[in-house]
Order: sequence, then structure tokens, then C-alpha cells
Amino acid sequence: MPRRLFVTTALPYANGPFHIGHIMEYIQADIWVRFQRMQGHEVLFVGADDAHGAPIMLAAEKAGKSPEEFVAAVAGGRGKYLDGFHVEYDNWHSTHSPENTELSQDIFRKLKLRGLVYTRPVEQFFDPVKGMYLADRYVKGECPNCGAQDQYGDACESCSTVYSATALKNPRSALSGARPELRSSEHYFFRLSDPKCKDFIRQWLELPGRVQPQVFNKAVEWLDGEGDKALGDWDISRDPPYFGIRVPDIAEEKYLYVWLDAPIGYLASLQNYCGKKGLDWRKVLETHEQIHFIGKDIIYFHTLFWPAMLHFAGAPYKVPDHVYVHGFIQVSGEKMSKSRGTGIDPLRYLELGMNPEWLRYYIAAKLNAAVEDIDFNPEDFVARVNSDLVGKYINIASRAAGFLSKRFGGRPAARVVSPLLERVRVAAPEIARGYEEREFGKALRRTMELADEVNAFVDAEKPWDLAKSPDNAGRLHEVCTVSLEAFRMLTLYLKPVLPRLAARAEQFLGLGAQAWEDVARPLSPERAIGAYQHLMTRVEEKQLDALFNIESVPQPTAPQRHAEKQQHAAKKHAVSDPISIDDFNRLDLRVAKIVRAEQVEGADKLLKLTLEVGELGGRTVFAGIKSAYAPGQLEGRLAVLIANLAPRKMKFGVSEGMVLAASGEEPGIYLIAPDSGARPGMRVK
Ligand code: 2FM
Ligand code: ZN
Repeated sequence: MPRRLFVTTALPYANGPFHIGHIMEYIQADIWVRFQRMQGHEVLFVGADDAHGAPIMLAAEKAGKSPEEFVAAVAGGRGKYLDGFHVEYDNWHSTHSPENTELSQDIFRKLKLRGLVYTRPVEQFFDPVKGMYLADRYVKGECPNCGAQDQYGDACESCSTVYSATALKNPRSALSGARPELRSSEHYFFRLSDPKCKDFIRQWLELPGRVQPQVFNKAVEWLDGEGDKALGDWDISRDPPYFGIRVPDIAEEKYLYVWLDAPIGYLASLQNYCGKKGLDWRKVLETHEQIHFIGKDIIYFHTLFWPAMLHFAGAPYKVPDHVYVHGFIQVSGEKMSKSRGTGIDPLRYLELGMNPEWLRYYIAAKLNAAVEDIDFNPEDFVARVNSDLVGKYINIASRAAGFLSKRFGGRPAARVVSPLLERVRVAAPEIARGYEEREFGKALRRTMELADEVNAFVDAEKPWDLAKSPDNAGRLHEVCTVSLEAFRMLTLYLKPVLPRLAARAEQFLGLGAQAWEDVARPLSPERAIGAYQHLMTRVEEKQLDALFNIESVPQPTAPQRHAEKQQHAAKKHAVSDPISIDDFNRLDLRVAKIVRAEQVEGADKLLKLTLEVGELGGRTVFAGIKSAYAPGQLEGRLAVLIANLAPRKMKFGVSEGMVLAASGEEPGIYLIAPDSGARPGMRVK
């Protein structure tokens, strides 16, 4: 029976681009999903942005945007990472969506109806200048224990004492510097400490295989806490100003705490997907196993609150079947910071032209099912990619394919009996188990052991020697056939990790997309393989230097530059490669009004343009038009903006699109403007 799976990854805060920690989680889940699909199982794989909360509201304010504009801009940047690393979600949505509003309010109402939600007043610091209540991290002051200055409102970095913000001496708002006032307001609480809640959570945790053993232990520790460690009720509301979902059915303006609506975003994304596909999402929810991939820092939310909320809200909600937790990724032993990430910028990785499948392979090779941190080590990365992937696996095809094409018309030999092939084939269930259990490192190690055996076979048979004498043609044909058939099976084993490479290999072998069961379907002597094209290059150390050191981006050498110039000259007069109308339609071109144009200090070519784009709101664009226009000439003009260009971080700020301009051989830049009558926000088609 095929399984039906609903798989999610943790929803990233929409306050900035992805860092390597996000990408690691997405790659882990994507590999698992691809493996399940190869097994013939049905998977719905969804993600979304976690858009709400005070930090995002404040970040938007700082960027001079509404929270909606701010999170939309961040969301616009997601695709290039996901496409870039071949992470294929069926849907990517947002917690700031009609679906999530409806679902969150529905769950809140149901929990309230069942007596699990109550209100009580909470005393909290209030910033009279900002006009808002301050979460502990927005209050600073002197530690009540050791007197250290400038400590946050939750714990002292100097003596590690944990306290509440109201205990700080000389408190001040970290936002405005003002002295905060103690005020009281009514908050909503979820009765997590209710014995029926705790009993349910324990029972949920105890199902074998529900969560990993380390996760079980951690959750039970929280559940069983006593004294000041006892599990308390959960404060699930916030006062305005807040970017979130309104507490329903009350006149007063109150919001649901971001962590209440965030996981509901999983369901909102599923519902949004089902809406687009004409599926009944309740049915889908009912029939699919619900599986969450998350990092170790958010176990608390996913193993206590989340199952309890779902269980007590009742139908159509269903508790998660599994929560799979991974550790963090460190770079050369250095801890990652949640906000800054680590030394590896995933976008830079892609922009340097580094192969995304190298990273997928490296991460997979390091992953297991335990909650362990993994370390990205540059030398190790080079070694694994070059010696395992290229040296062992790719090498098999490149050694055999040429002989088969040149000598035997590309056709594999018929009826080859080979114990080696048998060994490669019977490893399929063991490797499948590795993937299934998220022991990717194990699955890949086994695959590479087999690649070693195949290479040893080739070394022993020496096809290059066999090729010297026509008498050995029969054996040469067999050796090449065994090699390529082994390569075919290894490709299948690597396919969840290396989807693009596998697709190219399948094409070269003259095969369609292989499913796991195809391991038993050997290459046919009836069908010729295609010409071998190199499938993967080696990683070079200088690429890693460039990845870690911004200054050392490889600059083209003089001869390279010369060759590039020549190519460029040849291409310049030719029309660009054809694209389809669909390609063109992917551009979201809009009429934009330039409301402000400013010089940018330190930039020779750029002007900073503030645009007004109708319903899309305001945009900031850095345009390389300084040589042609004085700022004063531009204000009030209309231009054409590419509105869905991913925002680009530049030295001077983030550029949220591009304005179109014409230029030729001779100097001069000419902004494209619509005819009179066009209004900001109109589409250009
Ligand atoms: O820790 C985080 O980054 C959260 N945005 C994760 C939310 S996961 C889910 F609950 F939405
Ligand atoms: Zn202290």
C-alpha cells in the first residue's frame, strides 16, 4: 500500500534571507521526500514563511515599510534559494494569509470552548515612547544579582542568573531608551499544565517511533518538571501594536502570540495547496501521515504545545505522526547564530557557480537520525566531493562509456552474469532503510563502498588493455556492461540526494526516470546508451576560499578576459537565445512613479530611487543611472520596474527590483517611460 505523507519543514521567520541552517533542513527533508516518492508513496511537501511577531514588526518599521510589504519582499527572495538547491516544495505559503487567520481563530475558539483557554492579568513593562509592551529581550538594565550593566531582561550574560525583566535595576527600553512603566493587561492562557493536557502529551510521546529517543527524554523532562521548573500555562496573546492574527470574538484589539499561529501555518499551506489543486483538504489531512522536520531549538513548541493544541481542538485537526529533529550545522566547529547564520552564505555559494549537488551530497553524507550537530569543514568538503562523488562514482561511467559507444554501438552486452552486479543489487533494501530512517550518511557510505568494489573490478579487468586486442572484444564488452549497469544502480541509490545529476545520467543511459523498484530492471542490450557527457566537475579549493573570504572572489585572468571580450563581441550583435511566452510572462513589469531620487554616498554609478508602485506600495531601487540623470530630473517621472526580481543586498542597502533603461555602444542611458495616462502599479505586458 502506498503511504500518504504530508511533510513540512520549520517555517522560517520572514525577517531575512535563508542561512545555511535553513538550507540544511530543507535539503534533509527534500532528500527524504524524494526517496519516498521513488518508493511509490504519495507526498505533499509544504513550507511557508513565519510572518508574525514583534521582531518582524520592528524590523519592518526600521526598513520604513509596512509589515506586509516587508514580509512580502522577504518572501520574494525565497525561490532562488529553493530552486538553487533543488528543494522542491509542492507549496510555499505564509502565516500572514487568510487560510492561517481562519484556521488559527478556529483552533483558538475550539480550545476556548473546551475550557482550555482562560484570561488573567499580566504585569509587564510598557515603553511610553514606543507605546508598546516590551518582551523581556527589549528591556535592558543592571543585573539584580551581580550588578553587571547593560543586561537583557531575561538572563545575565555575566553571571548567568535568570530573572524576569521587572527585576532589573535601572531598567530602560532597548527600543527607545525610555524608562519603562509597569502596566497590567489581560492575557489569554492555554492550560498546558492541566493534567489531562499533560497526560495526553505523554501518551502522544510514548508511541514508539513518534520522536527520537533524545527528543522523548527532553520532552518528558519538561513535562515532569517540578517547583520553578514545573510546566506552566502558556501565554498566547499579545497587546497591540503587534503584527499578528486578531484574537477572535472580542471587541478589544488583542493578537494571538506568533508561536500559536506559526505551526498552524503548516496546515494553512496545505489548505492553500489543496485549494489550488481542487483537493478536499480535510480529507487530505485525514488520510495523510503528518510529519514535521525541525531543528533542536524548537522541540518545546513542537512536542508540547503543538500536539496538545491539535488534539484538544479536535476534528478536522489531527496530531502529528512524527516530529523529526536535527542538530545545527557548524562551520569549522564554530556555532551558528540563529540570526546571522554561519560563515557560509548559501546565495554566495550559488553565485560563485558552485554545484548545489556538492552541498546536498556533503550534508547528506554527514546526516544521521540523531539530534547531532554537523560540521561543515572545507577540507572535508573538498575530499568528499572530489574523491567520493567524482573520483568513485562518476569515474565508473567515464571509464566505461567511451568503449561501449565506440566499440559496441553503445549497446550493452546481453546475458552478463556478474556476482558484482548481484552484490550491488542486493544492497538496495539496506540503502533504502538508511534513507527511510534518515540515516543518510549510512546509505551513502554503503553506496560508496559499492562504488569502490566496482572500481576495483575495473582496475583488475583493465578495459584499456583489453581494448588493445580484438580477441578480447567479448570480455571488454562484458566489463563495460557490468560497469555501466553498476553505475545505473548507484545512480538510483544516489538519486534522492542528487536529483539533477541522476536525471542527466538517466538520459545518457537512455532511461526514463527510475523508481526504486527499477533497481531490478537492468540496461537492455536492445537500447544504445547516449554519448557520455561529463556529469560533474571537481570542486576547487579556490572556490571554497572565495566562499569564505569575500575579498578573494576569483577575478578572470587576462587571457580569460580577452576570450570573454571576443565572445562578447561576437554575441553582441546577435539576438539573444529564444525564450517562450511563458518565460516572458514570469517577469512582473510594473509602471512605477519615482517619488524620490537621491545620491548615494560612496557610489559612482548609483542613484537611490524611491518608487511608488500602486497596490504594491513603496520600493527602493538602486539604479546605475547616475551618469545620465541628476536626481532632480527624475522625481515625479514614471518608469518601468521589474517588480518580482528577488531583492538584492548591495553595499548601500537592499535593492528591491530594477528599472528598465536602454543603452548602446556609445555612452548614454535612457530610462524607459510609459506613455502619458499610465498609472503606478499598472502591469506592462
Ligand atoms: O524558530 C523559528 O525560526 C520559527 N520561525 C519556527 C516556526 S516553525 C513552525 F511552528 F511554524
Ligand atoms: Zn549578573
